[in-house]
Amino acid sequence: MQKLIGAKKINIAVFISGNGSNFKILVLDSFKKKSKYEIKLVISNKATAKGLVYARKFKIKKKIINYMNKKNAEKNILVELKKNNIDLICLAGFMKVLSKTLIQKFKGKIINIHPSLLPKYKGLNTHQRAINNREKYSGCTVHYVNSRLDSGKIILQKKVRILKTDTSSKLAKRILKQEHILYPKALKKVLISL
Ligand code: GRF
Repeated sequence: MQKLIGAKKINIAVFISGNGSNFKILVLDSFKKKSKYEIKLVISNKATAKGLVYARKFKIKKKIINYMNKKNAEKNILVELKKNNIDLICLAGFMKVLSKTLIQKFKGKIINIHPSLLPKYKGLNTHQRAINNREKYSGCTVHYVNSRLDSGKIILQKKVRILKTDTSSKLAKRILKQEHILYPKALKKVLISL
């Protein structure tokens, strides 16, 4: 992939599977006057992902990718990324693991948001696991994606205090609020380094 230079806006694809609240936040941030990026495309592996409503609302091109066969799915993803001149991928609640091949093709150009203070609590169910282990803090992390799950270089993190009264869903809500601040911040940091 070419080095990204000049005043041209960076073209971003956001990958979602669910509510898409982080997708929405990134779109709103991209609409700001000084934004250096444009959300060109949203990809979902589920036609029913709630977050797709924001594609219609904000007129972002959407593509549903059928994941019955992962190889084909990724082939189709690559076609879409090329067609839309995508420079950077932001994973935001995308529930599929990308293959090494795809990650290699976009080396250093895929980032993800994860609801824990990585390297703690990789994978799913992060909030309940943090509560069960009586952690004082949890939080969220934006990191580069490499071929090991939730293990790429950390870009930014935000700590969130775990309260005695917390349930998994209460904690998830407070962390999600922080995710919405952290993701645009981390993305700006990434864009500077491109
Ligand atoms: C977020 O908690 C994110 O950290 C995790 O999945 C959730 C997605 O939420 N990877 P949303 O779809 O952006 O609302």
